[in-house]
Amino acid sequence: MKSNIFSYPYKISQQMRNELNGHKSLLIWFTGLSGSGKSTLADALEQKLYELGVRTMVLDGDNVRGSLNKGLSFSADDRSENIRRVTEMSRILLDSGVVVLANFVSPYKKDREYVEKTIKPNIFVEIYMKTSIEICKQRDQKGLYMKAEKGTIKNLTGVNAPYEVPENPAVIITEKDSLEQAVEKVYLEIKDKLELQIE
Ligand code: ADX
Repeated sequence: MKSNIFSYPYKISQQMRNELNGHKSLLIWFTGLSGSGKSTLADALEQKLYELGVRTMVLDGDNVRGSLNKGLSFSADDRSENIRRVTEMSRILLDSGVVVLANFVSPYKKDREYVEKTIKPNIFVEIYMKTSIEICKQRDQKGLYMKAEKGTIKNLTGVNAPYEVPENPAVIITEKDSLEQAVEKVYLEIKDKLELQIE
């Protein structure tokens, strides 16, 4: 069916915005259990990128679920919808010429594959936060694991909802890595892809 919607051919392209910014667009995708350290690492990496003059934006599950994705549950279908909308938002941000740091549990392989195939391959970098469930439970900053134990949360990832381990992530961060080491590992992976022009 014809939709009667026509996209307008704007003259300023992603490439031109990248040239203006002095670096490429990138989507750095952090996946892992709640409490695995996604936000902490993204926060530290973003500060390093900021110091280097890289334009960034963070999309974080906890934040986005209070705004754009308000009302979505943690069922498998709603998690997929969460990731689909975030992928579209990432596309807009990548088009604007910035580096996007996206922190989502994103427990399903098919959803992460959707992100990867939707985004141009040379600008998607998957980071797997391989923190054990025991450590996440010990940290339990939000008290979610305690609630799951008491039965008040029914579908917490890693406890009573699945987490499908990434098969071929660009970087694996474990609990043995210090925050500084983790930042360096990710930076090493993205350095060439950024094509940073700024000294
Ligand atoms: S995702 O599975 O759809 O990718 P997302 O990253 O947006 O999840 O949100 C995860 C955040 O929501 C966690 O950091 C945690 O604070 C909170 N949360 C609340 N309930 C759950 C749940 N059942 N499973 C996972 N995270 C949950």
